[in-house]
Amino acid sequence: MKIKVAPSILSADFSKLGFELAKIKQAGADLVHVDVMDGHFVPNITIGPVVVKFMRRSTTLMLDVHLMIENPVKYIKAFVDAGSDMITVHIETVSLKELRGIAKTLKKSKVKFGISLNPATPLFKIRPALDLADLILIMSVNPGFGGQAFIPQVVDKIKQLRAIFTKDIAVDGGINNQTAKLVKQAGANILVAGSYIFKAKNIKQAINSLR
Ligand code: DX5
Ligand code: ZN
Repeated sequence: MKIKVAPSILSADFSKLGFELAKIKQAGADLVHVDVMDGHFVPNITIGPVVVKFMRRSTTLMLDVHLMIENPVKYIKAFVDAGSDMITVHIETVSLKELRGIAKTLKKSKVKFGISLNPATPLFKIRPALDLADLILIMSVNPGFGGQAFIPQVVDKIKQLRAIFTKDIAVDGGINNQTAKLVKQAGANILVAGSYIFKAKNIKQAINSLR
């Protein structure tokens, strides 16, 4: 599978978002990862649909929206209307019934559906929902902040998932040129990286080093 790199905008300079988006596009990013946090599901608050809408206006990159929020069902429509290309919800925040509803809504809107799981959440929790998802996002840090250290125990989880899931597997948290190797070997094909890319002197080189 082709390896795709998704810079996480959380590590960008929000005072010049348009410029940052142009910079990663030029450097060869495949998608832009957008971290939405509500201060409830995770101990941090970031951005909502309003900002996603303006990001949509300033880039042609696919918007990969990662909802780290409680009750995501309530906000799906707002993020679809804001122009998301992919929306990922956390398995810890929804029932199977709700997942089915979200899948239906997103299919109608031609938005890709991702399901994410925290490092401590076992793989069997998403098994009944695998058929609904276009992508599974494996968290390799506890969600909430950029710049945390990769949790190596998730490598096995990626391997086990790859054995039963043929679509996209994304990994998010603590990805750099070293940890990227581990997760690619395990079967991941989308690498989300925030601080490694935005702190790099040469962003193009950083993106290529992940591929
Ligand atoms: C963590 C977010 C990540 C984060 C990754 O809660 O979901 O997307 O921005 O940042 P790095 O790559 O710095 O760990
Ligand atoms: Zn994320």
